[in-house]
Amino acid sequence: MPTHLLNRTQFGDPRNAGNLMSLEEAHSLLTEWVPNERLRLHMKQVAAVMKAWAIEKEGADEHTAQKWEIAGLLHDADWEKYPDQHCSVIIEELEKRNIDPEVIRCIASHGPGYFGVQPVSKMDKMIYAIDELSGFVHAAALIRPTRYEGLEVKSVMKRLKTPSFAAQVNRDDITDALSRMEDVTLEELVQFIIDHQREVE
Ligand SMILES: [Fe+2]
Ligand SMILES: [Fe+2]
Repeated sequence: MPTHLLNRTQFGDPRNAGNLMSLEEAHSLLTEWVPNERLRLHMKQVAAVMKAWAIEKEGADEHTAQKWEIAGLLHDADWEKYPDQHCSVIIEELEKRNIDPEVIRCIASHGPGYFGVQPVSKMDKMIYAIDELSGFVHAAALIRPTRYEGLEVKSVMKRLKTPSFAAQVNRDDITDALSRMEDVTLEELVQFIIDHQREVE
């Protein structure tokens, strides 16, 4: 991911707190902006894991879970068409659509090393942790004949220590993301991702 500092700390308008787009709207934005099916799958996987985490681990209500899900769905929406302005374009689009600032801030936080925005809320920290790890777990599943079936945490952990495997996945980002949370372990998150993104198509 090329570094593209956003140079801002405020996202969206506080008066839009609580405003979300429907999931239909988010999916149609994805279809329009992201022709690449693999990239779309990545966003759907991150969204599924974010939503499940909100509900199962944070006890979120439906509206809050949808916030997590939409942030996941749209976090890379501008990556394919505007790689040099990745993150700025989708942020501005969501600001135009009067979306809840927490969703916009969460998207801006998904790569502090690239965008220069520090994750603050648990939702921010989780998208940062899930983003790279989700792609990594998927790569680990794809090389197995049975894919997710029987994929174990320990084999994912072993591959994480093999730099040549899925070399584009930045291990330092994963370590950094986890170090920002006291209550989530890497093993727990890997298991959670295996359990929740396997069904996503
Ligand atoms: Fe990204
Ligand atoms: Fe991503």
